[in-house]
Amino acid sequence: MDDFQYHGQELFSEKIPVQKVAEKIGTPFYLYSYNTILNHLRVFKDAFKKVPHLICFAEKANSNISILRIIIKEGGGFDIISGGELYRALQANADPQKIVFAGVGKTRDEIRYALKSNILMFNVESTDELFVIDEVAEELQTKARVALRVNPDVDPKTHKYIATGLKESKFGISISNAVQEYKLAESLENIDVVGIHKHIGSQITQTGPFVEAVEKIISLADILKKEGIQIKYLNIGGGLGITYSDESPPHPKELAAELVPILSKTKYTIIFEPGRVIVGNAGILVTRVLYTKMNEGKNFIIVDAGMNDFLRPSLYDSYQRILPVIKSSADKNISADVVGPICESGDFFAKDRILPDLKKGSLLAVMSAGAYGFTMSSNYNSRRRIPEVLVKDEQHYVIRERENYTDLIKGEKIPEFLNHD
Ligand code: LLP
Repeated sequence: MDDFQYHGQELFSEKIPVQKVAEKIGTPFYLYSYNTILNHLRVFKDAFKKVPHLICFAEKANSNISILRIIIKEGGGFDIISGGELYRALQANADPQKIVFAGVGKTRDEIRYALKSNILMFNVESTDELFVIDEVAEELQTKARVALRVNPDVDPKTHKYIATGLKESKFGISISNAVQEYKLAESLENIDVVGIHKHIGSQITQTGPFVEAVEKIISLADILKKEGIQIKYLNIGGGLGITYSDESPPHPKELAAELVPILSKTKYTIIFEPGRVIVGNAGILVTRVLYTKMNEGKNFIIVDAGMNDFLRPSLYDSYQRILPVIKSSADKNISADVVGPICESGDFFAKDRILPDLKKGSLLAVMSAGAYGFTMSSNYNSRRRIPEVLVKDEQHYVIRERENYTDLIKGEKIPEFLNHD
């Protein structure tokens, strides 16, 4: 898979044995391949080179500022969801004119921060929000560029937690009300209507839902034009899936083969918001087997990473490939649950998985963990968040240190009345 390959019995990332990095850094940690990220980005850009476009990487997938730097150096911008993500993007030296801000619950403070930073546009998700953006823009004596996030009511055929474009979802404004909402937006003094945004869900493995949704928003743009509302940007969101086990999602080129003919008939600048497809298969979680045991005939492999470090299997029952960092051909296979140290039954990475009969101390790689891995991690059970390491050729770089115990209580205070013994 990409730049994670076995050479002999050993799993490498690019030109470095994963074991070597594990020995230097200690486990658990995230490891990302620089060249894989770069390659994924370039493939995506190249697939859509026939249409004028901007790639706004969905920062929620992986927001380490070094990863953001890779995107920036390739000319990309960001899809952000919070003031924190804006801060990160700016710290990485992003061009604010390549930042788009989505989310159903932007606060006044976040709106102010984004306006002061002169981001490209807000993807507005409700009438209430539109009014608040108008007010804040007035207060700052500026104009806010906006797209309305339209919910096209298209089934992305994905996990229900990551489907966002169905009419019952909380996202965007309903397409049936869109013209009315656009007229309202146009009428507001401090709002400059510049685009249409849609994002129907994540880990989409077919082209059909994309085509259907794009056609719907292009029809909307046509209607708006007739109403005298001219937009410049068509933001078609993210959502392209990756292979975790046996899915075969369309390659960006296959998606482009269907979308480019439709998009190139228009004169809009197209915004893409890919996240997972850029970084998902460019990262792994490296963890060490602490113990193995058998309970009632069931095998458990207990590893040093937990659901706080990598939540996807617990939250979505997601399948993640798990590979031994060192293969041993003599090992027999067993069926086992791979579980973490957290005090929850939901703390697992795999159930009934066929794996080599590993001994304590063995290293495992949880594959396809580069997207929604670290960004969804937490300090649950007062566990320190783990390091992130970037590999490039034969070098590795720690791009985030392991937290220490003092980080865990940062900002906590004991009130005076509790201070006396
Ligand atoms: N644009 C918007 C407005 C989004 O909400 C998202 C993802 C994206 C773009 C990027 O989607 P992608 O290309 O990565 O599919 N934590 C879940 C995924 C949640 C996705 C949320 N929105 C997971 O681990 O599967």
